[in-house]
Amino acid sequence: MAHNVPVAAGRAAEAVTTKMTARDVNVFYGAKQALKNVSIDVSRENVTAFIGPSGCGKSTFLRCFNRMNDTVDSAQVSGRIQLDGKDIYSPDMDVVQLRARVGMVFQKPNPFPKSIYENIAYGPRIHGLARAKPDLDIIVESSLRRAGLWDEAKDRLNESGTAMSGGQQQRLCIARAIAVDPEVILMDEPCSALDPIATAKIEELIDELRGKYAIVIVTHNMQQAARVSQKTAFFHLGSMVEYGDTSMIFTNPVQTRTKDYITGRYG
Ligand SMILES: Nc1ncnc2c1ncn2[C@@H]1O[C@H](COP(=O)(O)OP(=O)(O)O)[C@@H](O)[C@H]1O
Ligand SMILES: [Mg+2]
Repeated sequence: MAHNVPVAAGRAAEAVTTKMTARDVNVFYGAKQALKNVSIDVSRENVTAFIGPSGCGKSTFLRCFNRMNDTVDSAQVSGRIQLDGKDIYSPDMDVVQLRARVGMVFQKPNPFPKSIYENIAYGPRIHGLARAKPDLDIIVESSLRRAGLWDEAKDRLNESGTAMSGGQQQRLCIARAIAVDPEVILMDEPCSALDPIATAKIEELIDELRGKYAIVIVTHNMQQAARVSQKTAFFHLGSMVEYGDTSMIFTNPVQTRTKDYITGRYG
């Protein structure tokens, strides 16, 4: 009976559930290998950060988790990636469905050139999550609330999403991902186009969403990784050099290459 009780206070004692796994993933763009034998478990409860210098394969790896690399003609992905134990590259996987379950937020906010309301309502409508306007209204409001945007958006739902500030647009994109009830949210440098105040809001939001969705964030900002994540994977030249608790990676890394990177010796 006592075995489920955490033995110590704090995050480390919380139970974690594996949401996605990657095993021996290799990615080639034509003849060029961008990712080399990468394996990782992504938990539902934690925010996982991918860090490393530009060009090391962070985005390439992230895009494997919802098959976004399928949209790149030259990309060849091998290895195994599972969502709840099911191979997402198997022929019977519905990719549209997969990308609703594993949503993505990009570097540059990319709202549709439609109203704020439509930006959120579009996905639930095409996925059949809402039958009538009142149901959609509820999803729109709850998604905007979860993304911390309701107060700023509620009086301008019919205005264009593209008329919002950059930080608001990025929260709109997060709300849009949330609206289709995802299980995993992938974020590829979601703050790199934002000012420090908008960045802080997104970081707060990520912390609020932690636990509700498995979150994987790519960032080249090490302070950001240290602030928002509990697990960190360090990549270099297409390989995952080290993976572990964020506190450990930033204070006491095992690998020399990780140490060199976090102390700013290259990047
Ligand atoms: N669409 C593509 N076609 C060809 N090469 C690519 C493509 N996307 C990325 N690459 C190459 O793959 C490597 C990893 O890129 P990327 O995953 O974008 O790195 P990161 O996100 O860490 O900056 C780089 O050498 C990059 O030039
Ligand atoms: Mg990238």
